[in-house]
Amino acid sequence: MKDRFQPRRHALIAVAALAFGLAAGCKPAPSGGADSAASGSSGSGSGTGAASEPIKIGEFASLTGSEAAFGQSSHKGTQLAFDEINKSGGLLGRQVVHLVEDNRSTAGESVTIVKKFVSRDKVVGILGEVASGRSLEAAPVCQTARVPMVSPSSTNPKVTEIGDYIFRVCFIDPFQGKLLADFAKRSLKAKTAAILSDVSAPYSVGLADFFRQRFTAEGGKIVVEQKYASKDKDFRAQLTAIKAAGADVIFVPGYYTEAGLIVAQARQLGIDLPIFGGDGWEAPQLIEIAGAALKNTYYSTHYSPEAKSAKTEAFVKAFQAKFGGETPDAMAALGYDSAMVLADGIRRAGSTDGAKVRDALAATKDFPCVTGKTTLDAQRNASKAAVIITVENGKFKYLETIEP
Ligand code: PHE
Repeated sequence: MKDRFQPRRHALIAVAALAFGLAAGCKPAPSGGADSAASGSSGSGSGTGAASEPIKIGEFASLTGSEAAFGQSSHKGTQLAFDEINKSGGLLGRQVVHLVEDNRSTAGESVTIVKKFVSRDKVVGILGEVASGRSLEAAPVCQTARVPMVSPSSTNPKVTEIGDYIFRVCFIDPFQGKLLADFAKRSLKAKTAAILSDVSAPYSVGLADFFRQRFTAEGGKIVVEQKYASKDKDFRAQLTAIKAAGADVIFVPGYYTEAGLIVAQARQLGIDLPIFGGDGWEAPQLIEIAGAALKNTYYSTHYSPEAKSAKTEAFVKAFQAKFGGETPDAMAALGYDSAMVLADGIRRAGSTDGAKVRDALAATKDFPCVTGKTTLDAQRNASKAAVIITVENGKFKYLETIEP
């Protein structure tokens, strides 16, 4: 898999940094950031220094490694959002400096990065991650420091349960698992299913659980469950067991790298059943890895550029103009939305104070996002429609929208 974006290890990309003469290494902001965030002191000058100084927002992302497609896509969305925000005058009359660091899609890195954002950079808010496992790692740091964190697309319910400073702008997996079970029953006519899940990803384990609950509650039967771990390459033993069990469909709640290999190997073993997954499948790499084997596969996700709305069209146009004609996927849309929702919270708070921004975020209501109107509920989650995508002639194709 090719990485389209190769940042230096721990390189900080400060989008507006040059305009403010900040070095890329990012010198520490004037003191008062962490203190004021923790003590609830007020005023737009608190949190990250004087009112004339830029507002810093940190993003931790999988820019390289096995989920690089997610991180890069989401990051393009956040870049576009902060470009637009800065062009239209910034936030609270201040420009935004957007810091980003790569966790290489590995466990353990996100905590280190987020701690630096909080204590060294005195960021006002944090964006990330796509993968639930890495959001779960970083969220306790944000919660303790009382720096609001907004995840663009982590769907595991536990992420926002970490605490009242943790938000997300996407739907959650109880909804996604349910809609996939209903899709299997209704559209794929499945009475029995096999599940092949990634035990190393909280996302995959959770989505398998929610699917199983709904599918069996509606009279379906899970005839076999098999497991793998991230970075596995050979799934033939599991697939052979699945073939022997004789299920109608195979559910693979995992990420695209492994899902692509699973689909390819299933077809090699003569398994031509419908295979489907959740939003973790969404990446152009899925098609690079599995190609023609993707016939009769499906996945659910958050958005399709084909599902037209005025907001979507404007976003697709701006994104293509900035990124050489590339069409934004769901992570790009959610990355953009996460930055816009955080910015809106800061604006409505009228302050960079952590507690005030938190309260404003918690009150987010009907905010017009690319992925739909966003209201954050008492658990700091969004409730939004999902779309089902299939693959036809080597291209993703929108099938239907499922309302919450
Ligand atoms: N929802 C996935 C998770 O929680 C991440 C993801 C989001 C993947 C959007 C693809 C698209 O880990």
